[in-house]
Amino acid sequence: MINGIKLAPSILSADFARLGEQVREAEAAGADYIHIDVMDGRFVPVISLGTPVVESVRRVTGLTLDIHLMVAEPEKHVAAFIDAGGDIINVHVEAATHLHRVVQQVRSRGKKPGVCLNPATPVAAVEEILPEVDQVMVMSVNPGYSGQPFIQAALPKVRRLRRLIGEGGLAAEIEIDGGVGSENAPRCAAAGANVLVAASAVFNDRASVAENMARLREALARVERTA
Ligand code: DX5
Ligand code: ZN
Repeated sequence: MINGIKLAPSILSADFARLGEQVREAEAAGADYIHIDVMDGRFVPVISLGTPVVESVRRVTGLTLDIHLMVAEPEKHVAAFIDAGGDIINVHVEAATHLHRVVQQVRSRGKKPGVCLNPATPVAAVEEILPEVDQVMVMSVNPGYSGQPFIQAALPKVRRLRRLIGEGGLAAEIEIDGGVGSENAPRCAAAGANVLVAASAVFNDRASVAENMARLREALARVERTA
């Protein structure tokens, strides 16, 4: 945590052949959460990983596991990802017909529910569910791949959401996911996001995980919260 901002490295860009090592590196470098991207080839075009990977990560770290379910019919999968070790279970509003029920499903298991918004989905889509969730994720790319460019329209969206949460006296955290790096992390934080996901900015061939995390932390150390 730096300046009230949590960093959630996404293992989607990690080297899966040495995943445990990469997770430990991220933890040693100050990660607050480990973000795990689950894709089913239906809700998003590609398939990524499932419960066995979550179980493996659970064994190597005590950090909060932030599970991002990019899957159709999330109600069918929530229990399995909780059993595998997930702590925050994020489901897409576009994927859940009965979003409220899925949120309750997570809550009843003593875990934290989160809801996610695709770039074209308005903030209004989560207005009614806000008091029930621990986190709202604003997607700043179209879900499916790491390494895509940041969609700027996510920032005013984060601001609107921050205002709504403030006005309602609510506690939901705001996570931003997609295209986040040291150049735009301060703007994300200033807009009101307090959990930053980063895959390719943390796990890449250009520098070590420690160096990449340090760059993000330095950028955030200079932030002044305006929201
Ligand atoms: C995208 C995933 C993101 C992704 C972020 O579908 O939800 O979490 O891993 O990757 P970067 O940080 O490289 O944009
Ligand atoms: Zn994600």
